[in-house]
Order: sequence, then structure tokens, then C-alpha cells
Amino acid sequence: TYVVTENCIKCKYMDCVEVCPVDCFYEGENFLVIHPDECIDCGVCEPECPAEAIKPDTEPGLESWLQLNTEYASKWPNITQKREGPSDGKDWDGKPGKLALLST
Ligand code: SF4
Ligand code: F3S
Repeated sequence: TYVVTENCIKCKYMDCVEVCPVDCFYEGENFLVIHPDECIDCGVCEPECPAEAIKPDTEPGLESWLQLNTEYASKWPNITQKREGPSDGKDWDGKPGKLALLST
């Protein structure tokens, strides 16, 4: 599966949701997650994210992000259409320590 990681937080560009063939993105207030059981590993979302926040879970060190994607994919609503993101989204791109700012 692919997972959404820290740099999505507060950027939330939402380009990813438009390309997913199985509509497996779920939306929180300032972050999106991928449902690991629905993702078919096609990989098309990875290059679409301007924040480079989407990664294959085969990359080392992503266990906690896989756990977080799994947990919130079953709690948050599905999202399939890009909307206008946060107005200050670009200001947060690349900022460290954003996990502490995740709205659940
Ligand atoms: Fe959707 Fe493919 Fe990305 Fe999985 S890898 S979330 S199926 S676009
Ligand atoms: Fe987040 Fe990137 Fe999608 S910032 S909302 S994973 S396009």
C-alpha cells in the first residue's frame, strides 16, 4: 500500500484524490489518509502530490504512518474531489514537526 506522511499536514493539496482509481483517500481536517486495504498499489498518486507526502510503505521507517493511515481511514469520510486547500498551505510545505499539529 501507499501511505500519506507528515508533509501533507496543513498543506492538504488534494491533487492525490483526483487520480486514485479506487477512491481510497479519506479526509481529516488538515490531513488525508489512504485506506491500506483498498489501495491497489498502482502508484499514480505518488508523483501527483506537490508536497511529496505519499510514499510506498516498503520504504523504511513508515510503520507509524501506516498505522496512522489505517486508523483514520476507518474514521474519516471518503474524499474523491479536490477542493480549495488551506490558504496558507504553501507556507507549511516542508516545515518540520507537523505531526504535533495533526487534527484528528
Ligand atoms: Fe490510490 Fe493508487 Fe495511490 Fe493506492 S497507489 S492510493 S490505489 S492512487
Ligand atoms: Fe496531502 Fe499531497 Fe494529497 S499534500 S492531500 S497527500 S496531494
